[in-house]
Amino acid sequence: MARLPLLSWCLPLLATAASVPYSEYILAPSSRTLTAPTVHEVNGTVRNAAALTAAGASSRTSNSSAVFVGANSSVTLDFGKNIAGNVRFQVDAVSGSNEYIGISFTESSMWISPDKCDATQDEGLDDPLWFAISGPGTYTADITHQRGGFRYLNVLHNSTGSVSLSALTVNWTAVPQMSDPRDYTGYFHSSSEKLNRVWYAGAYTNQLCSIDSSTGSALRLPLSGWAYNYTIANGTAVLVDGAKRDRLVWPGDIVISGPSIFVSTNRLDAIRSGLDSLLAIQLPDGRLPYSGIPFQSTDPSNFLWSFTYHLHTLNDIYDYYLFTGDVEYLKSVWGKYKLGMAYILQFIDSSKLANVTSSADWLRFGMGGHNIEANAILYYNLNLGLKLAAVLNDTSVVSNWTTTAQGIKQAANALLWDESANLFRDNTTNTSLHPQDGNAWAIVSGLVSPSRASAISAALQARWVRPYGAPAPEAGATVSPFASGFEVQAHYLAGHPERAVELIEFMWADFMLDDPRMTNSTFIEGYSTDGSLHYAPYSNDPRVSHAHGWATGPTSALTFFGAGLQLTSAGGKTWLVKPQLGGLSILSAGYTSSLGKFSASWSANSTGGLQGEFQTPPGTSGTLTLPVTEPAKRLVLNGPGGRQTSPLVNVDTLGSVTGRPHLKELVLPTCYQKRDKRR
Ligand SMILES: *[C@@H]1O[C@H](CO)[C@@H](O)[C@H](O)[C@H]1NC(C)=O
Ligand SMILES: *[C@@H]1O[C@H](CO)[C@@H](O)[C@H](O)[C@H]1NC(C)=O
Ligand SMILES: *[C@@H]1O[C@H](CO)[C@@H](O)[C@H](O)[C@H]1NC(C)=O
Ligand SMILES: *[C@@H]1O[C@H](CO)[C@@H](O)[C@H](O)[C@H]1NC(C)=O
Ligand SMILES: *[C@@H]1O[C@H](CO)[C@@H](O)[C@H](O)[C@H]1NC(C)=O
Ligand SMILES: *[C@@H]1O[C@H](CO)[C@@H](O)[C@H](O)[C@H]1NC(C)=O
Ligand SMILES: *[C@@H]1O[C@H](CO)[C@@H](O)[C@H](O)[C@H]1NC(C)=O
Ligand SMILES: *[C@@H]1O[C@H](CO)[C@@H](O)[C@H](O)[C@H]1NC(C)=O
Ligand SMILES: *[C@@H]1O[C@H](CO)[C@@H](O)[C@H](O)[C@H]1NC(C)=O
Ligand SMILES: *[C@@H]1O[C@H](CO)[C@@H](O)[C@H](O)[C@H]1NC(C)=O
Ligand SMILES: *[C@@H]1O[C@H](CO)[C@@H](O)[C@H](O)[C@H]1NC(C)=O
Ligand SMILES: *[C@@H]1O[C@H](CO)[C@@H](O)[C@H](O)[C@H]1NC(C)=O
Repeated sequence: MARLPLLSWCLPLLATAASVPYSEYILAPSSRTLTAPTVHEVNGTVRNAAALTAAGASSRTSNSSAVFVGANSSVTLDFGKNIAGNVRFQVDAVSGSNEYIGISFTESSMWISPDKCDATQDEGLDDPLWFAISGPGTYTADITHQRGGFRYLNVLHNSTGSVSLSALTVNWTAVPQMSDPRDYTGYFHSSSEKLNRVWYAGAYTNQLCSIDSSTGSALRLPLSGWAYNYTIANGTAVLVDGAKRDRLVWPGDIVISGPSIFVSTNRLDAIRSGLDSLLAIQLPDGRLPYSGIPFQSTDPSNFLWSFTYHLHTLNDIYDYYLFTGDVEYLKSVWGKYKLGMAYILQFIDSSKLANVTSSADWLRFGMGGHNIEANAILYYNLNLGLKLAAVLNDTSVVSNWTTTAQGIKQAANALLWDESANLFRDNTTNTSLHPQDGNAWAIVSGLVSPSRASAISAALQARWVRPYGAPAPEAGATVSPFASGFEVQAHYLAGHPERAVELIEFMWADFMLDDPRMTNSTFIEGYSTDGSLHYAPYSNDPRVSHAHGWATGPTSALTFFGAGLQLTSAGGKTWLVKPQLGGLSILSAGYTSSLGKFSASWSANSTGGLQGEFQTPPGTSGTLTLPVTEPAKRLVLNGPGGRQTSPLVNVDTLGSVTGRPHLKELVLPTCYQKRDKRR
């Protein structure tokens, strides 16, 4: 069918300051004092349980308390979404002696129980917070006894008398560095309501994972008397892996959560304090920690080390610099960066690939040898490192890193590619396992030709396990929202945005939001290919985290690759605008970098027409690449600066429009127009 690719763009006149659009999708609360909207369940004898809901609390009848009578009387409140905070309630009346109220928390409805929370450890379930009720008054859990992730809160009365309760609220503690948690700088909207909800749930998940630095570490806590009381970083807030647990800095997770924070709230301070905490404990030989303290030992003889997570810290430094343009920061960490790269290069052997000897990774199995994931990540970081070296005018590393990267690319394609499967093998000693992580990273890193990328994308899609997600066979019978986040990027980069859109819709929206065992607001850490909420590395299912930043890959992918708004140098001084709608009829997004606002808005129709506009900060320049797969019949460019006279259009292959000085002129409010005569 003949296509009529057509593009027009025109800058809107400078918009007046207004709140970010589509804020109705933001899940963060407008007040940090939350009252549950609904009662999920009542057991035993509780009079007027609705007094504990928002409607009950605001009604001014004389029946303002819920009355718990006798043992095993309980009310389970449903906050409607995953939240975080410390609980507080008022006791209006007590009868009896030795009266107790126990408060327990669960993220998933699966683990609501009379007298237990869900889990933070493999050993069992966490106990409730018990309050001895000595008389009327206000009872408040201290800040270390907040729960980092829960949708359901159960109030249990276990004693023989009765207790009247009211004003039960949760003090929402996430993103302590944001005075208004709804103050987003980015937005997203599309013709797919599923994608819209996924984008905002990803942003919200990362808010729950941005915590007060003094309330970290939920590993190795006692089941009874658990408390988040470890200072894991300097700074007000720190970005951790999960809201309920581990509440630790994990550099691998930040590779996904960091970019998704950038495009939504742009509160990168929590990333910075996490990176600082990792760099602070780098060993003199260059090794960077697997995680932050206190899980990470700082003792060199007992130092947890991961080849891939070491590289992810370097990746996180690159991203932080890209988003902030903070060259002073880059200079301050460059010595540690180079020391880290030098440490990793010793693993390159005569094959020109790194031979990995540390099994630690994202809890996948079988990390070792000439592994494709590890080598693709190394290849990627050598190239990022070369960009940073160029910024700093450091020529000392150029020859080595360039040669090493070329060697990896050549050797990985020669030694690890399995032509019969159209996928990479996991390593040179394994012929049957084709990992999701390594194949996605092969595309993300730029290690493969466009034809191999396209073949990998098709092969990964062919393995999807509907209706649950994209499998990660390197981690058993597992669906990993982390590894799948890289797969989403890979489909876009391979030129198959329709696969990225489809995967996000069925895996993230239909399953990870809408399945009734989920929170309908934040994204789970991992689950099984049979749809059970069992994550292979954990023996205790209630332990899985339902708010894990590493599961938020779609948020940045939809903005960077769907709307096509990409930064190609610090702060977006240069950029690439390359929309890939993937079958959507409407797609728009925007974000703010250190240099200003970026936005794009596109609409496509059934005959292949595409209309849109985009805006970048004054003084920046870039490239516009259009999704034209057949020669364009007509191209209209309406832009500031008047009629375009020099040839601007090359639609022979991919339909790229490269406008170096011209696009700078787009900041002017007059339009130019060019018609391509090719027909
Ligand atoms: C309202 O309060 C009165 C007096 O305490 C009590 O008798 C009545 O049962 C309460 N009604 C409900 C619905 O709890
Ligand atoms: C409420 O009672 C039901 C039925 O006995 C039970 O399955 C459930 O676990 C109880 N829930 C709570 C929170 O006590
Ligand atoms: C209620 O729970 C508290 C705290 O665990 C405990 O000390 C108390 O003995 C329990 N009361 C009854 C009647 O079981
Ligand atoms: C609510 O949390 C903040 C920290 O986020 C803390 O400073 C404040 O004391 C808490 N308020 C209550 C009533 O616990
Ligand atoms: C933190 O809480 C744990 C468990 O209650 C306790 O053992 C530990 O001493 C506390 N640490 C600090 C620094 O308060
Ligand atoms: C906080 O900063 C100090 C001084 O730079 C450093 O020694 C310490 O390791 C940092 N603490 C954490 C938890 O990162
Ligand atoms: C190679 O990959 C397989 C499958 O992941 C794994 O079982 C094996 O341990 C790996 N080899 C090495 C040397 O790590
Ligand atoms: C990787 O290095 C280890 C440790 O030096 C060695 O035992 C192993 O044979 C090497 N693997 C390969 C595939 O060369
Ligand atoms: C790198 O060199 C260029 C050209 O001399 C200079 O403008 C720039 O400031 C240098 N960058 C740094 C970080 O020193
Ligand atoms: C790069 O430098 C490392 C030492 O940091 C060295 O072992 C390696 O042989 C060098 N590689 C190349 C290609 O120059
Ligand atoms: C899930 O959350 C969305 C808002 O993000 C809401 O519109 C929808 O009703 C919720 N679904 C359920 C089943 O509660
Ligand atoms: C499709 O969009 C193009 C570009 O805006 C427009 O010229 C064309 O009329 C549209 N076709 C239909 C069927 O709407």
